[in-house]
Amino acid sequence: MKTTIGVFFGGRSTEHEISVISASQAMAAIDTRRFDIVPVYITKDGHWYTGDALLDVANYRDTAALLAQCTEVYMRPIYGDYTLYRAKPRLFGSDRLATLDVVIPVLHGSNGEDGTFEGLLETIGIPYAGCGTLASANGMDKITMKMILQAGGVPVVPYVWFTDRQWDAQRDDTVAEVESTLGYPVIVKPANLGSSVGIGRAADRAQLLERVADAQRYSSRIIVEHMVDELQEINCSVLGDCDQYETSVLEEPIKSGEILSYTDKYMGGTKGKAGMQAAQKRIPADLPADVTERIRFLAGETFRVLSCHGVSRVDMIIDRSNGGIYVNEINTIPGSLSFYLWEATGITFPKLMERLVSLALKRRRDLSHKTVSYDQNIFSLGGGGVKGAKGAKGAKSGAR
Ligand SMILES: Nc1ncnc2c1ncn2[C@@H]1O[C@H](COP(=O)(O)OP(=O)(O)O)[C@@H](O)[C@H]1O
Ligand SMILES: [Mg+2]
Repeated sequence: MKTTIGVFFGGRSTEHEISVISASQAMAAIDTRRFDIVPVYITKDGHWYTGDALLDVANYRDTAALLAQCTEVYMRPIYGDYTLYRAKPRLFGSDRLATLDVVIPVLHGSNGEDGTFEGLLETIGIPYAGCGTLASANGMDKITMKMILQAGGVPVVPYVWFTDRQWDAQRDDTVAEVESTLGYPVIVKPANLGSSVGIGRAADRAQLLERVADAQRYSSRIIVEHMVDELQEINCSVLGDCDQYETSVLEEPIKSGEILSYTDKYMGGTKGKAGMQAAQKRIPADLPADVTERIRFLAGETFRVLSCHGVSRVDMIIDRSNGGIYVNEINTIPGSLSFYLWEATGITFPKLMERLVSLALKRRRDLSHKTVSYDQNIFSLGGGGVKGAKGAKGAKSGAR
């Protein structure tokens, strides 16, 4: 019997379109002799649709026409129910449209790569590819991610972070902290977006104020980092789980301006290619063997320290002025699932998809050995069984 893979993509994210491209590449790479594919497209306003028309990227030019050929669906947040239901019940026949065996989320950015969607899958108990809720959420937030990496001994560039409220109420102190710990130039980023959205350089105080105001449009948590002026960017993909993983060959993305922009990343103009795969890049990156080895080691450490799973891409910064190597960020659902890095490492795209499925099933099997609840019903113990409860009327909370 074939395994049915639900591929979820699109979503309420600034990286909606990139996700459509990544997912269509991933679905085309799945071996249909072994797997059945059910595409589930999440619209920009959060509705789910399925249908074969979703498989062809050309159809997304006219979303209204595309959705007219599809069926709106949903899953219930009930443990063990892997069914995809029709949103509009039919007069006759079942509302069950398909049963999934495993889910591959190919959602980039907020409401997908950040653990929220993974939380829904955890609630349902369905095996799924990629990071769990904890690693997804930590990996998405540039502040939390850097704190954890620092604590885990992984080098990151010096940074200062603050909230909207702090910026408004303690502006002078916060500016002073940025200037004394980092100095100019700095780079200002909203904590939880991707694709270079809301990111900018500030060379003096006036620009800092402008950049923070800009970043605040996207997030209420802001990170300001020391700007590495002479930087070389190097990416490395990691595949596996935090106990057993392998790292890919390295890529050097090529940028047109000071920072790698949205257009550099996705519209590099490599003919016949789309998404992250289209970006101008050098694979493998041209680096001395010891630097390559150090970067692959740090990519693996990042994956391990953050408790990642499936396929991630770790982006590094080399400071050319002193040779310093820093981890800039992790993408827990990387563009094009980093398949082009795995191909260059000797793992074909179909094999990568198979690995993601088997990793998902293995995690579910491993989890099923863990105790999640006691069979003992403490309410049935009678007498003083529920310690701390003062009787139904007065009790505010029982013992925990
Ligand atoms: N500390 C830094 N110094 C210099 N350039 C940076 C720094 N941090 C980010 N950049 C530039 O900005 C780009 C986007 O930043 P990044 O943190 O990767 O955000 P995103 O999640 O949007 O990709 C990077 O690819 C790099 O070109
Ligand atoms: Mg980046």
